[in-house]
Amino acid sequence: MLSKINPTQTNSWKALDEHFGNNDFELRTLFQYNLNRFEEFSIKKDNFLFDYSKNLIDSRTKELLLNLAEECQLKDAISKMFSGDKINETEGRAVLHTALRDFSDKEILVDGENIKPQIKRVLNHMKTFSEKIISGEHKGFSGKEITDVVNIGIGGSDLGPVMVVSALKHFKTRLDVHFVSNVDGNHIAEVVKNLNPETTLFIIASKTFTTQETMTNANSAKDWFLKAGKQEDVAKHFVALSTNVQSVKDFGIAEDNIFEFWDWVGGRYSLWSAIGLSIVLSVGYENFEQLLKGAENTDQHFQTADFSENVPVLMGLLGIWYRNFYAATSHAVLPYSQYLDRFAAYLQQGDMESNGKCVDRNGEFVEYETGPIIWGEPGTNGQHAFYQLIHQGTELIPADFIAYTKSPNKVSDHQDKLLANFFAQTEALAFGKNEEEVEAELEASGKSEEEIDFLLNYKVFHGNTPTNSLLIKELTPFSLGQLIAMYEHKIFVQGVIWNIFSFDQFGVELGKVLANKILPELESNETVNSHDSSTNGLINYYKGNK
Ligand code: F6P
Repeated sequence: MLSKINPTQTNSWKALDEHFGNNDFELRTLFQYNLNRFEEFSIKKDNFLFDYSKNLIDSRTKELLLNLAEECQLKDAISKMFSGDKINETEGRAVLHTALRDFSDKEILVDGENIKPQIKRVLNHMKTFSEKIISGEHKGFSGKEITDVVNIGIGGSDLGPVMVVSALKHFKTRLDVHFVSNVDGNHIAEVVKNLNPETTLFIIASKTFTTQETMTNANSAKDWFLKAGKQEDVAKHFVALSTNVQSVKDFGIAEDNIFEFWDWVGGRYSLWSAIGLSIVLSVGYENFEQLLKGAENTDQHFQTADFSENVPVLMGLLGIWYRNFYAATSHAVLPYSQYLDRFAAYLQQGDMESNGKCVDRNGEFVEYETGPIIWGEPGTNGQHAFYQLIHQGTELIPADFIAYTKSPNKVSDHQDKLLANFFAQTEALAFGKNEEEVEAELEASGKSEEEIDFLLNYKVFHGNTPTNSLLIKELTPFSLGQLIAMYEHKIFVQGVIWNIFSFDQFGVELGKVLANKILPELESNETVNSHDSSTNGLINYYKGNK
């Protein structure tokens, strides 16, 4: 079990509070007076550079944040997670997505049983199956090779694979992998529109195998398929990824076509498990293994590096500094890579479903802020959309900038232009443009005194917006695995310090239950009056107009 310490009652929190009150952190000044700032607040590893010098901190802030981690017993929490302690206390489960990428010989026990052999068995199953599909040895019901794969799943059974498949497009096999998640029938309709049932493989991905959206889409996929194939052909075209083997069998999927995982893998941490089958089909098993190895590399770093040099720990602590002391309500993730176009969406579930909690590990309502809103889009597109608010809005929005130094596609000078924007934005956000600079600029452009007076305030950039910069050498399966695991552990660090349970998600239940109650009302001819007037009104309007 994890410790149950209210962080605000620790000495370091109190010291941080005082430290925050006594200092005005100004990036211009901090850089001016510490010429060594970049060296002091950056970490270089074999294949990446993490620069956190453009944060509103000094060495004392860092020291106090590290003390907070100590006082909240982060070290102990890390070792408990990795060793299979049932730290998901509200669901009585261990949290062992890290075991899925642990290639060491070390045993990991859950209820006294070493889980390593079962992980290996499923990985081997994924390997042999994917090789048969990719090579064309596995044929569809009419004897043709599979050309298209459709993953049907939602939340953790969709977002991770979608993000990785998009990020690793440049490692693609001959298969086209598609995703259907939304219960909006237009999603599946648009995906299957151009597919041939003879050459399509469906993956039904659902940890519980009860999720309404996924089961509805799975049944529609089967109906679509059965217009061309027969019931006995289903085995060649449908596989399932689930912890609920019995329900998969009841759905009609053969035992050989089930790729199992276990309740100690949280949905939003499951891309490393059988849920990654669509990734394996998209990029091949070797590349999937590299993805796992990259994550394992971060796991080792997280467990062994001193906290003062530990990337996920520092990312987590900096987030706490802004959320709890600067009252920042959101955190932007801005990859300067089109390949990472789904990265922020993926992290939204990872972070917000984990740390969007208001009850602490003692069962008490918290009196401090927990998880921020996570959002973002790839740069440079975001620059032409929402950066205005980051530069000149009224909110402090800390941001992570992520980019790759090398690009797999050498297209004239695109890469330099992309990176020039990355560097320019982090510089502009940090240092802004003050009144004097704006005034001098307007004067030089020939504006009159009156015009300058009018324009001055509009043209000032307040700056002092904190950013982390992560420059990775290349976007490979390995480095992507490293990156995803960094964020997973950042989320963990914050959950431990906020004294909340990061691995349940009871907050998603109520809406599901109500939707199931409303569904029969939509199907009946009666006017609905069992809800409040707004809900009744909306339902009846819908019924009258569908
Ligand atoms: O609704 C939230 C959730 O339970 C997520 O945590 C999960 O990733 C998603 O639904 C899908 O669940 P399943 O894989 O069981 O279909």
